[in-house]
Amino acid sequence: MHRDSYEKDSEKANPWAALELGLSLSNLMHQAVAEGLAVHPIAGFDEKYLIDRLGIPTGYHVPVMVVLGHYKPFSGLKEWQIESEYKVRERKALDSVANFAGIFSQNF
Ligand SMILES: Cc1cc2nc3c(=O)[nH]c(=O)nc-3n(C[C@H](O)[C@H](O)[C@H](O)COP(=O)(O)O)c2cc1C
Repeated sequence: MHRDSYEKDSEKANPWAALELGLSLSNLMHQAVAEGLAVHPIAGFDEKYLIDRLGIPTGYHVPVMVVLGHYKPFSGLKEWQIESEYKVRERKALDSVANFAGIFSQNF
């Protein structure tokens, strides 16, 4: 969750609030994995519903939730879900997502 504005000056917008939340989430996820925990961010939810149900004040945003916990023996999961948990992750090559020498270079 992050605020639109600074805590000490609610009239002053904080344009970096979402970035700071993302950095915090990244640190939390890395540390969780380093400690052998399972961690899954979730962005596909009804933010307005959540804010209303939890009574979160105006000016706050909840762009992500995080499920964090210990791995347990899988019970009640379908076969494809278990396979999905254990499957080798395929990641895009770095140069396919971070291309500093490509199309943007003509603008610098
Ligand atoms: C910002 C963000 C939002 C996500 N939102 C959802 C979501 O709403 N529903 C969902 O099933 N998975 C969502 N995911 C993906 C799951 O968290 C997924 O388990 C995870 O990215 C898999 O990571 P892994 O391949 O390293 O295990 C989201 C991932 C990110 C990074």
